[in-house]
Amino acid sequence: MAAIDLAQALALLLADEAVAIPTETVYGLAANARSEKAVARSYALKGRPATHPVIVHVTGADALRRWVSHLPPAALALAEAFWPGPLTLVLPRAPAVLDAITGGQDTVALRCPDHPLALALLEACASHGIDGLAAPSANRFGHVSPTTRAHVEAEFGADFPVMDGGACRVGIESTIVDLSAAEPRILRPGMLDRATLAEILHLAPQAAAKDAPRVSGSLAAHYAPATALEVVSPDALPVRAAACLAQGLKIAVLARISREQSQDVSRAALWWSMPEEPAAYAQLLYARLREADALAQDLILVEALPETLDWAGPRDRLARAAHGAGRRTSPSSNDRH
Ligand code: TXA
Ligand code: MG
Repeated sequence: MAAIDLAQALALLLADEAVAIPTETVYGLAANARSEKAVARSYALKGRPATHPVIVHVTGADALRRWVSHLPPAALALAEAFWPGPLTLVLPRAPAVLDAITGGQDTVALRCPDHPLALALLEACASHGIDGLAAPSANRFGHVSPTTRAHVEAEFGADFPVMDGGACRVGIESTIVDLSAAEPRILRPGMLDRATLAEILHLAPQAAAKDAPRVSGSLAAHYAPATALEVVSPDALPVRAAACLAQGLKIAVLARISREQSQDVSRAALWWSMPEEPAAYAQLLYARLREADALAQDLILVEALPETLDWAGPRDRLARAAHGAGRRTSPSSNDRH
């Protein structure tokens, strides 16, 4: 089967099957969000715990009311400003929303993806009675999200049905904003950054609340390559790389400093020059992590990113990847969620 067109994807979804679809952020594993059976199937494929909520993908702001019990004005303002786009809104759920979608919580996460194939499929589904697609990232639980069809096939096999939409434009998962409590909060940073959101939304200073809804992406070990990964400051990177090489380790380096600044190591190591701009960096990041896995490196060394708001998304994913990485190279790190 592998690559499927819109009609085939629709037929599979109507038959309660899961199919992989492109979005602008990462590929999603889509299933009819109104069907217990379909949602269970996608959770089983992913190996995802049933208590973890999943994002419902919808055709746009007009569809929000079908899924929520109450629509705060800020939610409509954000949806109108940024949908279709890499923004997920967490809102009070409507009573009919399946517990399987919400992980039994009283909120539901919604997003309208900015990809022509995803939008066309969502419209086709809507006209056949499926008014939302539950779609977690199309990877096994805890792994790096896929940004190409080949990545999806590496997760689920070459026969898995995938709509091929090319390489994802954004490259990391959507920004998640919780609007279900008194104060709006960013639950997961992404490429729609805090400064841009703040043009529409009054955001309280960030603090991790004890009673925050569960976000599986906020588990420590997540978005993780199989190869061990370390984040190192730009100054320390050449020295750390040289030390690894001296130990005989095979290393891949993701650096924004130039090769010339660290000539000795850059010749010996797999040295990947990463973009200076956050958007281009994010677009490439997961493909590079997967490539390092495929090339069976012992360690991925990543140059630490700037502490500015526009880098919050990639910085967050690298921190999690560093924490969870190494299931292949370091047997001790098998305490994954
Ligand atoms: O960009 C994305 O958001 C991609 C594409 C496919 O749309 N999807 C994605 O899905 O990243 P997933 O399942 O890998 O991550 C969804 C995140 C999880 O961290 C989950 O816990 C959180 O959304 N989430 C879902 N429902 C929630 C809820 N009701 N409250 C809080 N967090 C929720
Ligand atoms: Mg995911």
